[in-house]
Amino acid sequence: MPTYDLIVKNADIVTASDRYRGDIGINDGKISVIAASLDASQAQQVIDANGRMVTPGGVDAHCHLDQPSTDGSQSADDFISGTRSAACGGTTTVIPFAMQFKGQSLQDAVADYHQRAAGKACIDYAFHLIITDANPATIAELPALVSQGYTSFKIYMTYETLKLSDLHILEVLDTARQLGAIAMIHAENDDCISWLTQRLKKQGKTAPRYHALAHSPIGEREATHRAISLAELVDVPILLVHVSSRAAIEQIYWARGQGMNIFSETCPQYLFLTAEDLGIDDSFHGAKCICSPPPRDSDSQNAVWDALANGTFTIFSSDHCPFNNDATGKKLHGENASFDLVPNGIAGLETRLPLLMSEGVLQQRISAQRFVDLTATAPAKLYGLYPQKGTIAPGSDADLVIWDTHIRQVISNEMLHSNADHTAYEGKEVQAWPAITLSHGIAVWRDQQFLGEQGNGRFIARAVPFPSAG
Ligand code: URP
Ligand code: ZN
Ligand code: ZN
Repeated sequence: MPTYDLIVKNADIVTASDRYRGDIGINDGKISVIAASLDASQAQQVIDANGRMVTPGGVDAHCHLDQPSTDGSQSADDFISGTRSAACGGTTTVIPFAMQFKGQSLQDAVADYHQRAAGKACIDYAFHLIITDANPATIAELPALVSQGYTSFKIYMTYETLKLSDLHILEVLDTARQLGAIAMIHAENDDCISWLTQRLKKQGKTAPRYHALAHSPIGEREATHRAISLAELVDVPILLVHVSSRAAIEQIYWARGQGMNIFSETCPQYLFLTAEDLGIDDSFHGAKCICSPPPRDSDSQNAVWDALANGTFTIFSSDHCPFNNDATGKKLHGENASFDLVPNGIAGLETRLPLLMSEGVLQQRISAQRFVDLTATAPAKLYGLYPQKGTIAPGSDADLVIWDTHIRQVISNEMLHSNADHTAYEGKEVQAWPAITLSHGIAVWRDQQFLGEQGNGRFIARAVPFPSAG
């Protein structure tokens, strides 16, 4: 009778703190032992990592799957295609959103998203809530939802149908404080965006590239500072999502210097795209890269790299929010719709880890340990999944990535596994890609093949990140 279901031998094991050679023994989907050497004859199955890097499976803490939009546009990915593409890119846990429509109860929103995911997800998943209607009845629902494992709430400072007033933000933050939960804030000044949009449109400037001007870094900076101030007033930690600009990073850096517990996230689009990807002329092509906040300039790209390396950013997520380039998505309002009518969001679940491994770790901008922290350990800790997820340790789920780091892979949408009809990274070369992704000790990606099964992903009720708060 073999002692192990699986041994991963000769692994270059990387955690958020360490890097060392070892063998990993796996039983019943969990890591049971890590040792300098395990006896291969004691395993039902052996994978020889041959000295390749082995990291925890990625935790993508910001993605939108099968999320209906208030404008009627349709997400290109449901829980089958979204989790499939995640697995093929080395991500083994996703935290998409259960979004409340105004007037809807949060429990109804959660029930709806469970239906969307059940029997479909091929990797594990949890849900953040999106609170769009912070009325007293919604606030009263939160204690029960937090105890059911929905321990983080996203709130918006912009988008007409989603945004909360400062008063409502304060109420949500105060509730998060009492419950030990965390609020994730989309920080852009809505009135700045409206004013700039109107001005640009009056001048006939409606092409996709003007989206980047309408969503000015000044508006992001102001809202970031305001979110920090509201959190300071309530005395509660917050996480600022998808931070894009040097101006916003400076606010976060300042707040952390004051001793405030401000966490922050950035995403691949702010490292690998610039406003020029929205177009250098008036063609509609750049609509593919419309997201909010938009990609910025090379100065902000450098600031984002620095903040990843120096610890200012806590996590690195995809903000996967795919829309096809057709009438269900980017062309919802026609081939030449004004930029403000184009659905916001780009695909990124599958390319998140290869891009950062390749351009971050292999180009020596960040260490392999920092890579693990940003993409797996820190999101698992922040969102109450650790140590089940986000690390390589006895007792943790055997969610692992064995890396190829000596390849030349030109990204094309054809090789990806999302249902999106394009990728913003078409033609970009990377030197790294997962050779094998294991979810609960079972290969879901190997030999360039998706091997996962829909329905194998499990819902995870999350712990509160700040249990002693309140
Ligand atoms: O443009 C983006 N980021 N779309 C996704 C929705 C959001 O605000 O995260
Ligand atoms: Zn957002
Ligand atoms: Zn998002």
